[in-house]
Amino acid sequence: MALIAPSLLSANFLNLEADCTMLNQSQADWYHLDVMDGRFVPNISFGPMLIDFFRKATSKVCDVHLMIQEPEKYAEAFKKAGADILTVHYEACTHLHRNIQQIKSLEMQAGVAINPHTPVELLRDILQDIDVVCIMSVNPGFGGQSFIPHTLNKIKRLREMIDEQFLKVKIEIDGGVTLANAKSIIDAGADVLVAGNTVFKSANPMETIAALKAI
Ligand code: DX5
Ligand code: ZN
Repeated sequence: MALIAPSLLSANFLNLEADCTMLNQSQADWYHLDVMDGRFVPNISFGPMLIDFFRKATSKVCDVHLMIQEPEKYAEAFKKAGADILTVHYEACTHLHRNIQQIKSLEMQAGVAINPHTPVELLRDILQDIDVVCIMSVNPGFGGQSFIPHTLNKIKRLREMIDEQFLKVKIEIDGGVTLANAKSIIDAGADVLVAGNTVFKSANPMETIAALKAI
């Protein structure tokens, strides 16, 4: 059974309390929180201040996806805000191993996200040090985009790499996850499904989460 991580980027920002209450009552496992800096990605979302509010609104895992350059400057602020998992982008980190060490020393779980063009093979020598790989199945920056089908091959290849080394790293898929494609994503080897629009733009978000969970 996959973990479900609704992305709050697609929530109603005029009434976040209602969306948090819904998520807390739902079968959602993680809050997926997308931080964008307008430099690494062509969009700006929110930062530690809002995550601090989400932290107070839930006891679920806060999964913070940093789509920012120089994440080392902000890791401590996200720890203070209450992040449980801090994910940085492979493409944004010249010294990725150092970034991971910093996240671990702050006692958070460490994730690495990769853009659609980045091969999973580039993670071979960091896999043993991390908790989550977030495979982007859209180009990061916006919710509501279509799933890139080639991602399924990347999931299968990464699953093999993880199993070969007997590691416990979770594979998280982010972007364009729907009720229609979730099964193929799980069958390919994913552990965590991020879902923004599929959850929050549906008629009954709580039922949609239950339906994703049941796949
Ligand atoms: C995109 C973000 C995603 C986004 C997913 O850059 O990282 O987490 O919110 O949204 P959907 O599920 O609508 O593609
Ligand atoms: Zn994300």
